[in-house]
Amino acid sequence: ARPLEELDKLAGTAARVVRGHDARVEGLFHTTDAGDEGLASFLAELRLVKDAHEIAQLQDAVDATVRGFEDVVRALPQARATSERWAEGVFGLRARVEGNDVGYGSICAAGAHACTLHWTDNDGPVQDGELLLLDMGVENRELYTADVTRTLPVSGTFTPRQREVYQLVYDAQEAAFAVCRPGADFLDPHRAAMRVIAFGLQRMGILADAEATLAEDDRRYARWTLHGVSHMLGLDVHDCARAREEVYRKGPLLPGHVLTLEPGVYFQPDDLTVPEGFRGIGVRIEDDILVTEAGAENLSIGIPRSADEVETWLS
Ligand code: GLY
Ligand code: MN
Ligand code: MN
Repeated sequence: ARPLEELDKLAGTAARVVRGHDARVEGLFHTTDAGDEGLASFLAELRLVKDAHEIAQLQDAVDATVRGFEDVVRALPQARATSERWAEGVFGLRARVEGNDVGYGSICAAGAHACTLHWTDNDGPVQDGELLLLDMGVENRELYTADVTRTLPVSGTFTPRQREVYQLVYDAQEAAFAVCRPGADFLDPHRAAMRVIAFGLQRMGILADAEATLAEDDRRYARWTLHGVSHMLGLDVHDCARAREEVYRKGPLLPGHVLTLEPGVYFQPDDLTVPEGFRGIGVRIEDDILVTEAGAENLSIGIPRSADEVETWLS
């Protein structure tokens, strides 16, 4: 690290540049694609294992997020009277006052909007009888972000069908957490969650042969799961995204990794392959997990998660 004033004197020297941030810096140096890509992944990989200070920052971001979720639950009557925007606004207030901002555009998705993965218009009605999927995270003052999802019944009580889907996603997340420990593959939690969901879909009569669909070249269950179960979390919501495959997506979990566990099941409103009563139901549960020497710790445990806990919380 050197003073910025010295930068011009270095013009033309051999260098590697993180592109896409500062056109002037890019203009000063002659670099190669491979060299610059190498620097970007090196920096991303340095961020994979969080030290004690970073873990405290992430917990701080999560704790503010817990308070933000509580604010939104308290404000549900106003959201019912207006729109999803009320939830977005209430959470945004907490994020701006206690942190720097939201870590990403809040997803406040009522009813079938939950089936649109990055629903951020947040301009729909919030109605009794529907679920409200809230994917929101505070970015704290040191710019570390939380990334948490809860799916709540607007009326305060799940319908039997909603509860069935919710329980399946909950069981999938529990299965993912159970295999989240140092030495496991980064993808093991994903695999564990997909196994639970595939067999759940088979029980619901939606999928014929769960075991067969779990094969890497089949994956028919993915029609209703749509996304992976984990990504690293840190300064970016999708942290370390430039890290090489062999140390991230195809690498092992290590103590100090912080990742999400976020299985979801989404039945599009026009999906004729699922029983009519399930159409338009979308559920995701997302928590922020620290891999420890002994196993794993849920940093966002402070937000009610099981169906019963959620109903008690709302009441
Ligand atoms: N909120 C974006 C994500 O869950 O990855
Ligand atoms: Mn996430
Ligand atoms: Mn999220």
